[in-house]
Amino acid sequence: MKGDFEVFPMIHRIGILTSGGDSPGMNCAIRAVVRAGLSYGLEVYGIYDGYKGMVEGNIVKLDRKSVSDIVNRGGTVLRTARLKEFKEVSVREKAVGQLKKFGIEAIVVIGGDGSYMGAKRLTEMGINCVGLPGTIDNDIASTDYTIGFDTCLNTICDCVDKIRDTTESHSRCSIIEVMGNHCGDLALFSGLAEGAEMIITPDHPIPEEEIMRTLKQMHDSDDNKRAIVIVSEKLYPNIYEFAERVQKETGFDTRADILGHVQRGGAPSAFDRILASRMGAYAVDCLLEGKGGICIGMVNNKIVDYDIYDALALPRDKHVSMLRLIDILK
Ligand code: F6P
Repeated sequence: MKGDFEVFPMIHRIGILTSGGDSPGMNCAIRAVVRAGLSYGLEVYGIYDGYKGMVEGNIVKLDRKSVSDIVNRGGTVLRTARLKEFKEVSVREKAVGQLKKFGIEAIVVIGGDGSYMGAKRLTEMGINCVGLPGTIDNDIASTDYTIGFDTCLNTICDCVDKIRDTTESHSRCSIIEVMGNHCGDLALFSGLAEGAEMIITPDHPIPEEEIMRTLKQMHDSDDNKRAIVIVSEKLYPNIYEFAERVQKETGFDTRADILGHVQRGGAPSAFDRILASRMGAYAVDCLLEGKGGICIGMVNNKIVDYDIYDALALPRDKHVSMLRLIDILK
């Protein structure tokens, strides 16, 4: 019924929130939802601080101007939070009470898979919710790319380019830990983009013995006097201690760098802006069609929707075929 809403308006007032770790492009998604909603004659409310703000009633009506000049800004103007207690029915009942007070009938939730569960449960309580994949981690199986992944990847590449200058100058080994939660995509993609000597991810773990043997061979050979090693976070309890072991066992003067939260900031890339805009507008279409409990993805460049339970059950192997490149391009 896209376009027919004037004839049969199912909803009048929608809300939007961002939840979980922020990611570049969330603001573009907010803008798209607000502008698309207003174009269709809906009222749009911003819910600040994620589900926490929903429970507390931190809700403000938005207009076109509220989302002006935010396409190029990282972070989220609605701020974000993680609220574990949202799993509890009593907490969600409070949230639903607040939404009713404001007359909000449906919600767009931008966040990771934890945020999706909240969206599904709210839908089951009568408030239709649509989830948009906003996270740098790319750990949502129902979309080829999440909003923020591309920007983060480019940020990592900028950082590794800089680290490479000093690594080469000192003939060192640099071990660079990147984010991703338990998903290796940021490490895999950045490692390939940087031509790293070694890429270690949850899907591509390398036994420590092999790591040492390979790096020692590189150190002892004439043509490889430096090494860049990209490692997913959470694989080594202490990356600095790992670097010390590498230094001791391979002969490489070794340094470790944890890129940290710099990876989450910055102006969104053009790719993320477009992805967020397409998904945001599509989410509003879905709400107008009376859909809820779904999440939006981009699969083979097509914007699609999945039931949230189905999406969460999908295998997380969408880029597994790229792992072979690690071995054949080294
Ligand atoms: O989910 C995004 C993410 O940046 C992960 O990559 C990382 O593990 C986590 O959030 C860090 O969370 P926080 O900002 O709460 O330390």
